Order: sequence, then structure tokens, then C-alpha cells
Amino acid sequence: MRVLLTGGLGFIGSHLVRKFVASDWCTNLINLDNMSFGSNLNNVKDVETNKKYTFVYGDIRDPELVSKLIKDVDVVVNVAAETHVDRSISNPRPFVETNIVGTFNLLEACRHNDVRLFMQISTDEIYGDAVDGKSFNENDAFRPSSPYSATKAAADCLVMAYNRTYGLNTIITRSTNNFGPYQHPEKLIPKTIIRAALGLKIPIYGTGKQVRDWIYVEDHVEAVELALLKAKGGKIYNISAGNEVSNLEIVKQILNIMDKPISLIEHVEDRPGHDIRYSLDSSLIRCELGWAPRHNLFEALKKTVKWYMENEWWWRPLADERTLHPTPWKIKW
Ligand SMILES: NC(=O)c1ccc[n+]([C@@H]2O[C@H](COP(=O)([O-])OP(=O)(O)OC[C@H]3O[C@@H](n4cnc5c(N)ncnc54)[C@H](O)[C@@H]3O)[C@@H](O)[C@H]2O)c1
Repeated sequence: MRVLLTGGLGFIGSHLVRKFVASDWCTNLINLDNMSFGSNLNNVKDVETNKKYTFVYGDIRDPELVSKLIKDVDVVVNVAAETHVDRSISNPRPFVETNIVGTFNLLEACRHNDVRLFMQISTDEIYGDAVDGKSFNENDAFRPSSPYSATKAAADCLVMAYNRTYGLNTIITRSTNNFGPYQHPEKLIPKTIIRAALGLKIPIYGTGKQVRDWIYVEDHVEAVELALLKAKGGKIYNISAGNEVSNLEIVKQILNIMDKPISLIEHVEDRPGHDIRYSLDSSLIRCELGWAPRHNLFEALKKTVKWYMENEWWWRPLADERTLHPTPWKIKW
């Protein structure tokens, strides 16, 4: 199968690139990435010379380029997105343009060409806050809280409409918060590890009681590959590992692993519109496709800390004042 994967220089995209290129079923993979904020050529250094792999520097907002590339593939996996909630608060426009219009360009190109499958990588954030002990299933309503999650919800709506109206073969996967190697230092877990390693205070938004359901990135990409190969067209799957932990607790666990004092934690002004809890019911993918996460949260956190400690060459050039800022939603991007 020939794959066009967008956003393959980012965190999750680079793990998918590595997995797909190593598989028997993937014969060619084009990685289309515009090298925007979350990207890093070092994320795919180990596959650069693989004969199956081609990198195209380009943008999903460019309909002509997208149409041209789609002529030579069987499957499109749309991972590309503007992804940081904080940046979406201070500058939402690129989020609308990439996450909505970029997805629309890909869907249009698929509709007019002989593409077998369009796969959208989505997020639990489209459902908004999970209050009163609720876990969302795939049929629950969208209640996005941030410009980021609103644009991801809009993209999911477009994908569902193209399946229904044009009969395009589509799959949507919605996962909870990922962590693991190659995640940009702007995100909570790498930021905590790096700031702790540098002896800096660890910022926690508000009380830190916001609950996230963490999944190790390798478990997520296994679920995506399984859905790509086995799911029926039109399907939507939630992906979660059932690791619901508050932000304060996850930071304390990291400090414990790194043998750093809890006194490094500093409570800072909360992000506007901050969701208090995310929680997904992922029984559908477990029952229908037999997926299950293989990693335990604490062990995967230890592996992640170890990776960052052994790969300073990777994060050091990215660890600047903006990415490590305690309240990035307050600065101008
Ligand atoms: N990280 C998470 O915890 C998480 C959880 C659930 C879903 N997701 C979804 O997974 C996907 C990947 O997330 P990530 O954390 O790896 O993000 P990331 O920011 O690390 O990577 C995004 C990649 O997309 C590329 N990109 C952005 N705009 C583009 C454009 N216009 N054209 C081409 N490429 C473009 C960037 O250059 C970058 O390489 C996103 O769609 C995100 O919504 C992420």
C-alpha cells in the first residue's frame, strides 16, 4: 500500500512514519510536512535513507500540491495539525487554516481521485470536559472549549460529511493525551522533564487538578495501524489507555522519577477555558479490533524520562524561552 502521511515530522507523525516504513504492508510512504512549529527533521533521522520513504516539504493548505501527491497513493493519513492549545488561544488563525481548510483540501483531493481510504487523526478534546465521572463514547456530542479543539471538531465533521455525502471511505481515531520520545518541549511532560533537568521551576496551571487520560505514543500508533488495516469504512474509534491522572500528580511522578524536589512546582495563572477532565470510553476499538495498550503509565513515564535525559542533543535546540515559558498562552506567537 502507498501512503501519504501528513505531519510526519511531528511527534505522533514521526512514530507513525517509523512504524509504517518498517511494516510489510506499506510499500511507499510520502511524508508531507510544512515544517511548522511542532516539526523536527531529527524526529525521522533514522528513516531518512529508507527506500520506501520520501519527504515532501509542503503544506496541506496548498490544494494543488495535495491533489498532485494524492494521485500516487492508496491511503491518506492526516496527522498534520496546529496542535498546541496555548498557541491557539493567543493566535487561532493558523489553527483554522491548517486544521479545517487543510483537512478540506485533502478530502477534496481524495474525492476526485481513486484513494482507497482517508484516515483522520483526531483528539478527545473535541468532546470537551468530562464531568460527573462520565467517559465519552464515539456518539457523544462535540463541546470543544479551545480554538484548537474547535478546529479539530470541525475537521471531524467534514470527514463524517464526506463519508456520508460522497461515500468516501474514511476512518477517524480520537486519542487521549500522548507522551513519549520526540514530543516537543512545549507540551506538559517534556516541558516538566526539561525544566526539572535545568533546575527551573515547574509551572502548573491553577490548582493542577485538571485530569488527563495519558497514553504512551507507541500504544496510540499501534491502534492507528490496526484501524487502518482492519476497520470498516465510516468507523470512528476512541483510543485511551485508562490512565486518568491530574496534571499535578503527573508532574509529581516525574519529579519522583528524576529524584527532584516537589518544591520545584510553582502554581501559575490558569489557561482560559481550561477543561477540567478528559475521559474516553475506548471499548469499541478493544472489542471490534482487539486493541489494548501494552504500556503501564509509570514504566512508560520512566522510559520517557530516560529518553530525554539521554537525548539532550535532540531537545536542547528547542528549549528556548518561548517553548519553556510558564504561561505560553499569554505571549504573542
Ligand atoms: N499529542 C497529543 O497528545 C495528541 C492527542 C490526540 C490527538 N492528537 C492529534 O495528533 C496529530 C499529531 O499531533 P502531534 O502532537 O504529533 O503534533 P505536532 O505538533 O508534534 O506535529 C504536527 C506536525 O504537523 C505539521 N504541520 C502543521 N501544519 C501543517 C500544514 N499546514 N501542512 C503540513 N504539515 C503541517 C507540523 O510541521 C508538525 O510536523 C494532530 O492532528 C493532533 O490533533 C495529538
